[in-house]
Amino acid sequence: MLREYDCWLQNRKKNTFYDSLNPEFNAVYVIGMESSDLIFNQAVEELRTGLLRLFGFSPAIYPVKSGGNDKKAEEKKGIFLGTRENLKNLFNLPMEKMAPSSFMIKSIDKNLIITGEDAEGILYGVFRFLFLVVLKTENKSRDLSQGSSLEFDIREEPSSPIRMINHWDNINGTIERGYAGSSIFFKDDKIVYEKERVKDYARLLSSIGINALSFNNVNVRGAARMLITEEMLPDAAAIAAIFRPFGIKLFISVNFNSPIIIGKLPVSDPLDPGVIEWWKNQTDLVYSYIPDLGGFLIKADSEGQPGPFQYGRNHADGANTLARALKPHGGLIIWRCFVYNAAQDWRDRTQDRPKAAYDNFLPLDGSFDDNVILQPKYGTLDFQVGEPVAPMFGAFKKTRHIMELQITQEYTGHQIDLCFLPTLWEGIMDFNTDRGPNSRIRELVGNYREGSSFIEGFAAVVNIGLDNNWTGHTLAQANLYGYGRMIWDPSLKASDIAREWCLLSFGSGKTSEIISAILLKSYRTYEKYIAPFGVGFMVTPGSHYGPNIEGYEYSRWGTYHRADTKAIGVDRTSSGTGYTDQYSPSVAAMFANPSSCPDENLLFIHRLPYDFIMKNGESLLQNIYNTHFEGYDEVFALMGEWKKLKDSLEEEVYNSVLSRFERQLSNAREWRDQINTYFFRRSGIGDKKGRQIYG
Ligand code: GCU
Repeated sequence: MLREYDCWLQNRKKNTFYDSLNPEFNAVYVIGMESSDLIFNQAVEELRTGLLRLFGFSPAIYPVKSGGNDKKAEEKKGIFLGTRENLKNLFNLPMEKMAPSSFMIKSIDKNLIITGEDAEGILYGVFRFLFLVVLKTENKSRDLSQGSSLEFDIREEPSSPIRMINHWDNINGTIERGYAGSSIFFKDDKIVYEKERVKDYARLLSSIGINALSFNNVNVRGAARMLITEEMLPDAAAIAAIFRPFGIKLFISVNFNSPIIIGKLPVSDPLDPGVIEWWKNQTDLVYSYIPDLGGFLIKADSEGQPGPFQYGRNHADGANTLARALKPHGGLIIWRCFVYNAAQDWRDRTQDRPKAAYDNFLPLDGSFDDNVILQPKYGTLDFQVGEPVAPMFGAFKKTRHIMELQITQEYTGHQIDLCFLPTLWEGIMDFNTDRGPNSRIRELVGNYREGSSFIEGFAAVVNIGLDNNWTGHTLAQANLYGYGRMIWDPSLKASDIAREWCLLSFGSGKTSEIISAILLKSYRTYEKYIAPFGVGFMVTPGSHYGPNIEGYEYSRWGTYHRADTKAIGVDRTSSGTGYTDQYSPSVAAMFANPSSCPDENLLFIHRLPYDFIMKNGESLLQNIYNTHFEGYDEVFALMGEWKKLKDSLEEEVYNSVLSRFERQLSNAREWRDQINTYFFRRSGIGDKKGRQIYG
């Protein structure tokens, strides 16, 4: 029985498998409990309720003083929970220091120890243990269902320190690019929330390793601009308090013009002494309410949001002023790099939007204070399918930075269409920037060191709202789960994640296998019926759902495909806009040659005639037709797979996903026919296979 609200933390106690498990699990010894650490205490609580959820019993909890001399504890049998430092003595284990937030789960005699380097590590260890119990695997290979006891020997550490969620929640309760109901944080220009719901959300996030969250939209408008004032800070502090025991730090998105808006100063020039003083005082005030605030997130000089450009200053000037206000409090300023001319003239071919982020930020490499974190999107246009990984990754050498992903399906089907995003993210992790040894994205994820190109983590625009199942489309829960898992361990494959999520959500068996297979096909299917081969924007302006092939063609947003009767695309090689020159020479050369450029990026990089012969020996035009016919057919087939599950799923889950597949099918049909007709009318060349194209 799937309780959609519980996502991947399903109640499994009815499963008889668990009855046969280790009886020692009914005693939990908490070493160092007197520490009154909120996160540690939460870990104990999660273990208690997790065992109840999975095994059907609530274990006895025995607090044990730290110090390691408690002989009585040594004689006991059960689960031991504590920091490495405390458990080391008790079990006389040769345990060397581990990285922050890392954990170890180990069976010793009849005991199980869950230990972390710190309280966060213990909490993550508890969640991992509970997952592994369900996944029935140990040491990644042994199937626990074969044995009568659970044996563990696991050690994990997060790939990077910043694992963040960005909410684009507006203070009126709507969500920019939200497809799962209203905001869980805001309503009617106020912070309005249901405490238990936010706590359940914190638990879900923490269970997948998330440790930072910004709760308001990066477009900071209206009353949201006052979130950093005395009027709203008490409520913001109450939200921070819900996330705190789960090891998640709250961030607030701020407006660059706050000194004018809140402080009533004449300017917000970051080099103006009055402005510097204002940010310092206001930040002190914020920290008096939320002493452990993670910091501020900012969208500056981007799509109409104010920034340092209005005073002829650059992004480093802007970021450093905020950074210095945050520094005494240990706070970070996360500065987005989604900066481009959003008022372009489509006639002007001298500009190329994908070049803008690199052009704006690379020259500033080394000019940012050490508590500034830059946040570029993974691609250079805007979360489009088929965008190459942005060239600044691997290129920054003296700038702390993270990568921004999008879990909410703005351009990937609005949580109506199924689109399993870990497939995309696996490709991103695999991208080789080729700027030296070990320079694939997954190899660059790690702690920052001066002179290195390490990516210190990830932020992603989340896909949840007040819908009972959180994500609108129940299967879109897999994208949130997958984000946490993949950024914790970038070597994971999309297929591992699909399998894990299905087992946790649906249990083992045929149902789970079918759903996993559906998920794994969904991204490539989606890619087939939308804008072809990475050409970018062909979506309906504003909403970004469904086709409108020339919808953005004459707009100000710089997102043009320039299709005419002979060719389509923008030449972004050195003979064109020069975008590919922003990459390392080998990557630039790989992109510049259409025969080595991946098909999924082909029209992002090249302008090609319709009769261009692609790698499979077919023309570009014929490939456009083929993929669009196939895309629709594949949605139909996926829906057929789903229908096989009618008797094995709860009616509500089955029907809500089915109705989404029906809507996806009509969307795919619209894309297929509009795209095929458009190119047929432009080129005058029909489909080789004679399938129906509406002329
Ligand atoms: C996209 C999106 C906007 C959002 C922007 C951003 O352009 O459509 O709604 O504000 O990205 O990332 O800031």
